[in-house]
Amino acid sequence: MKLVRTRQELTEIVTQWHKDGETIGLVPTMGSLHEGHLTLVRALDGKANRRIVTIFVNPIQFNNPDDFQLYPRGLDADEALLAQTGVVDVLYAPDETQIYPPGFCTRITVSGPDKMLCGGDRPGHFDGVATIVTKLFMQTRADIAAFGEKDFQQLCIIRRMVTDLDLPVTILPVPTVREADHLALSSRNRRLTAAQRQQAAHLPQALQDCLAALKAGKPVAATLERCTQTLKDAGFTVHYLDLRSEKTLAPSEKADPGTRLFVAASLGDIRLIDNMPLA
Ligand code: PAJ
Repeated sequence: MKLVRTRQELTEIVTQWHKDGETIGLVPTMGSLHEGHLTLVRALDGKANRRIVTIFVNPIQFNNPDDFQLYPRGLDADEALLAQTGVVDVLYAPDETQIYPPGFCTRITVSGPDKMLCGGDRPGHFDGVATIVTKLFMQTRADIAAFGEKDFQQLCIIRRMVTDLDLPVTILPVPTVREADHLALSSRNRRLTAAQRQQAAHLPQALQDCLAALKAGKPVAATLERCTQTLKDAGFTVHYLDLRSEKTLAPSEKADPGTRLFVAASLGDIRLIDNMPLA
């Protein structure tokens, strides 16, 4: 595995790969890698013969400067973890000048699905995601890119963007990887204290209980309300708990297959998100 820090070096490598007829797979990340990220890399098995993982903590997708500063970072550990997988050709870890050179002033704007769920209380977040992901598609010239269902809204927005902008890349969705107590793996989990980590297990539990009640035919609004209250009682600040269509992300009053529960809730200043399908 080669560690690449500049755009120029990356361009030389991917240009050669294209000449040689190789298929390029991409996993974009913000580092602090865990098994969820590694599962994305493995999901490219048999779909791409060259694999690039990118690590870039993207400043323009954070609306809170503290959140950006506090985002966990550790390139050496990430590099070692990826090297161990034996299936990554290039780790691209650019600094900000390689991505946003002086004078940079162009953004991709997402409308519609970015206003709901995480877009509601994180204005501009998905514009920042769409912009960096497009830049990474262009810089790596990826044929296929893997994204986790853990960030389901992000996955939907990227799929939509690829269609809308005719980007020549296939999007590969990968199911959420969870801890033994079902908490979704996340780089942010590292910031939880031991007590908060125990509390955090209430989040997937509440989603599972809520799903079970909905499947048993309990009314949607009352079930969501009860589940929200359970999370508040467990010490969470609940930003949203919604049942929505997997296709359009529009709220659903009926618990049909094709709907999914979405939650964002904080413990202290650490925001956790999760989602689970009804089907
Ligand atoms: P990051 O949070 O590092 O996540 C990188 C990728 O890993 C995303 O596609 C995310 O959905 C996936 N992922 C994270 N935890 C996962 C889990 N438990 N199971 C399965 N997949 C998981 O998402 C971002 O970075 C950024 O917004 C990015 C797309 C890199 C743009 O900056």
